[in-house]
Amino acid sequence: MTSLLAVDNLHVNFASRDGDVNAVRGVSFDLAPGEVLGIVGESGSGKSQTVLSLMGLLAENGSATGSVKLEGRELLGLKPKQLNEVRGNDVSMIFQDPMTCLNPYMTIAKQMTEVLKLHRGMGKAEALKRAIEVLDAVHIPDAANRIKQYPHEFSGGMRQRVMIAMALLCEPKLLIADEPTTALDVTVQAQILTLLKELRDDFGTAVIFITHDLGVVAGTCDRVLVMYAGRVIERAPVDPLFSDPCHPYTHGLLASLPKADGHDDKLIAIPGNPPQPGSLPPGCEFAPRCRWAFDRCLQSAPALTNRAPHHDAACFLSKPGGDEL
Ligand SMILES: Nc1ncnc2c1ncn2[C@@H]1O[C@H](COP(=O)(O)OP(=O)(O)OP(=O)(O)O)[C@@H](O)[C@H]1O
Ligand SMILES: [Mg+2]
Repeated sequence: MTSLLAVDNLHVNFASRDGDVNAVRGVSFDLAPGEVLGIVGESGSGKSQTVLSLMGLLAENGSATGSVKLEGRELLGLKPKQLNEVRGNDVSMIFQDPMTCLNPYMTIAKQMTEVLKLHRGMGKAEALKRAIEVLDAVHIPDAANRIKQYPHEFSGGMRQRVMIAMALLCEPKLLIADEPTTALDVTVQAQILTLLKELRDDFGTAVIFITHDLGVVAGTCDRVLVMYAGRVIERAPVDPLFSDPCHPYTHGLLASLPKADGHDDKLIAIPGNPPQPGSLPPGCEFAPRCRWAFDRCLQSAPALTNRAPHHDAACFLSKPGGDEL
């Protein structure tokens, strides 16, 4: 596989009054051009900090080590000016709340054409034509007229589409979507997810899609990373992850998903809460919540090991309830 993105042993630390917070601990993954990768995990598992560090967008008290290569070029340690170029041209990010990216006082036309003038050196007329094309691509009806409006004149779902259009303006190789649909109702969520897949098919854009909800990745992603307490505890293509989860945490996330047939009576939530990065238990971070934990799990943390082609998990058992490896 030729990688678009290669992340190797990424660590993110935050300096705090109570000492260092290790929010991301040794995350590694590859992404091929045009691939859609899901990152799943409970709140605080390090999903956002993983992708923010790729973009050089960590908070001031944060620092990243390891390696993040985009088409072979190391991104960690780039100067702000170089990072701005990467963010403008190669990698774009969309957030949960479109208003964090859209300026409420500027028309959509102004915001979109400014980007094209700055990053693509386009003139006004050419930039406007291109902006309308991209709004069409994300299915904004009557784009040529609506582009003259302000963000508040759009519904939540439409604003999300505008934000995706903004992110696509410079045809990035990689689009990072951090919980882009959580604030939207289910029908609109489904439309946005379909849109992201279309964009991959039409533009060949690779997508990293972050979500709390393992259910959402099934219809959207090619491969999935499951994160827990700052580490990747399982990674696999979507189908084997759903049919044959190897980590008890993934197993638990799947057991807590509503079933498509509407029979939700056996929904089982994972007991307890994830640990805080500042106070990790010794051994496997998931052991205190794991019904299959045994002595060894309380003493040392299992490394990610290969279970099937492209399927790795960090557990001492072959599968939940299975034999010790
Ligand atoms: N500036 C900061 N200083 C100290 N700790 C931080 C800082 N930013 C984030 N963290 C901590 O890093 C950990 C990982 O945060 P992250 O935002 O990656 O979680 P997440 O998986 O995206 O969660 P959510 O699903 O809630 O968005 C959290 O415990 C968070 O409190
Ligand atoms: Mg987050």
